Amino acid sequence: MLTVSHVSKRFKDIAAVQDVSFEIRKGEIFGLLGPNGAGKTTTLNMICSLIKPDSGRIELDGMEVTDKNPGLRKKLGVVPQDVALYEEFSAVDNLKFWGGLYGLKGTPLKSRIAEVLSLVGLEERSRDRMKTYSGGMKRRLNLACGMIHNPGLLLLDEPTVGIDPQGRHAMLDMIRRAAKSGTTILYTTHYLDEAESLCDRLCIMDHGRVLATGNQDEIKRIVGENRIFKVTGVFEARNAEEMPGRIPELTLLSLRPNEVLYSLPVRQQTGKLIETLIASGFQIENLSIKEPSLDSVFLKLTGKELRD
Ligand SMILES: Nc1ncnc2c1ncn2[C@@H]1O[C@H](COP(=O)(O)OP(=O)(O)OP(=O)(O)O)[C@@H](O)[C@H]1O
Ligand SMILES: [Mg+2]
Repeated sequence: MLTVSHVSKRFKDIAAVQDVSFEIRKGEIFGLLGPNGAGKTTTLNMICSLIKPDSGRIELDGMEVTDKNPGLRKKLGVVPQDVALYEEFSAVDNLKFWGGLYGLKGTPLKSRIAEVLSLVGLEERSRDRMKTYSGGMKRRLNLACGMIHNPGLLLLDEPTVGIDPQGRHAMLDMIRRAAKSGTTILYTTHYLDEAESLCDRLCIMDHGRVLATGNQDEIKRIVGENRIFKVTGVFEARNAEEMPGRIPELTLLSLRPNEVLYSLPVRQQTGKLIETLIASGFQIENLSIKEPSLDSVFLKLTGKELRD
């Protein structure tokens, strides 16, 4: 449905997006997972032709996405990271406005407004002015506006940021329902748990580059049968670097003052690692072990944790 091929974008000195490629298949929820500054929003803005790539090509249903092809915009729904709606308007009036921009009017618009209000659970407050809504309700209305014209592909930019856990669950359920009703979804997030529970396939980005793409199993296979060990405490960098020479199959992932990350196959003894660390003069304050998960994939690929 959507193909992004070798797309790059610079802002002066910043290479925001570098040679990014992925495809989104019809009917799936595709995740774009990455920390702040990874290039998620820039990628999304190029897909909806808000900004132009420096190089590369984006195709939707076989047609190149450019600002000279406004017909394509109707196939896309965008839910931006920041809520950009009229605070003085009610939900219904905001939806009428957005629907109108897409050429909807009369009875079809009315019935579509009822549909999306029900999807996001805002029927009861639909006549109240938006400025009286909670942050979570505003985000739900933002979602409803992005879907008003029943787009084939919905682009969601971190729609759950700033919502409490209950609200996040509700939002994720709404997105699942939208997907079930036939909308293909591009979902960007920096929450690993959301990517894990929501997405059929995903792409992990950092510093503007794609680090991995695949379905959940394919992505988790990247860490293979490895556990990730995070050791904090007092130690010499040189000793930390020499550990892989002392334990076969141990890999050093990242090294910082007082914190080192290793990966080690599951079949290897944890005790041996601890013994060897102590014998190498480590004063261990904490040692944590991560089983294969999106979290450990991210650690392995980037050498850092993706914290909330
Ligand atoms: N208009 C702009 N002008 C200059 N630099 C920009 C612009 N937009 C984005 N950048 C830079 O490009 C990089 C990628 O930013 P982007 O907003 O795409 O990241 P993101 O993954 O969406 O991050 P976040 O999770 O914080 O929203 C960052 O270094 C950012 O500072
Ligand atoms: Mg962003």
